[in-house]
Amino acid sequence: MRIDIITVLPDLLQSPFQHSILKRAQEKDLLHINVINLRDHSTFNHKQVDDYQFGGGAGMVMMIEPIFNCITHLQSKTKYDEIIYLSPDGELLDQKIANQLSLKENILLLCGHYKGVDERIRQHLITKEISIGNYVLSGGELAAAVLVDTVGRLIPGVLNDETSALTDSFQDNLLAPPVYTRPSEFNGWIVPEILLSGHSAKISEWRYDKSLERTKERRPDLLKND
Ligand code: ADE
Repeated sequence: MRIDIITVLPDLLQSPFQHSILKRAQEKDLLHINVINLRDHSTFNHKQVDDYQFGGGAGMVMMIEPIFNCITHLQSKTKYDEIIYLSPDGELLDQKIANQLSLKENILLLCGHYKGVDERIRQHLITKEISIGNYVLSGGELAAAVLVDTVGRLIPGVLNDETSALTDSFQDNLLAPPVYTRPSEFNGWIVPEILLSGHSAKISEWRYDKSLERTKERRPDLLKND
C-alpha cells in the first residue's frame, strides 16, 4: 500500500513512521509512506500557501493553486483510491473505516492548517473527509499520523501471530480483555488462576467473558453498533 501525505510541516511527520510496526511494514515493502511538502508546489513569492479569507475574519485559508498543483502532479503518477482531507468535520475514524482503508492500494492524505483549505478543494478533489475525534487539532498532521498508524498495522502481512490485530480492542466491537505477565504474584496481587491453568479453551472463554464484561461496563455504546 502506498500512502502519500501532503503537508506544510513535513518535519512533523518524520518520526512517527520510523518505529516499531510501521517501520517494519516499510522494511517489508508492504507500506510506502511519502511525505510531500506543499510549499514545493507553490508558484507564489516566498512559497506562499495561504491567504486571507474572502468576506473577512480572522485566520488564513490554504490556497487552491498549490494544493491543486500538488494533487494533479501526484495523480499524474499514481491513481488514488481515496483522497482524504483530515478535518474535524469529517467522518469519525473507527476500526471499521481503518479496516476498509487497509485494503486500498493508494491513498492520498491532505493535512489542513489555519482555518482550513479553500472549500473548492473539498468539493472537487477530496473523496473523503476523516476526523480523529471531537476536538480541534492545530493541523491535520497528527491526525494523519494516527490514521496511518491504525491503517498500516492492518495491512495484510504487517502483523505476525504475536501482534495479530484479531485480538485488538474494537476489532469485533469489543474491548480487549485484561492481560498479565510474570510474576504471577506481586505484593499479594495475584493473576487469575485460569490463565496459569494451561487450559486453552477455558482461557479463550474467560477472555471473551472479560471482553464482554469490560465493554458493557466501559463502552456499552459499542455493543449497540452493527
Ligand atoms: N484537524 C484539526 N482537528 C482535527 C481532527 N479532530 N481530526 C482530523 N483532522 C483535524
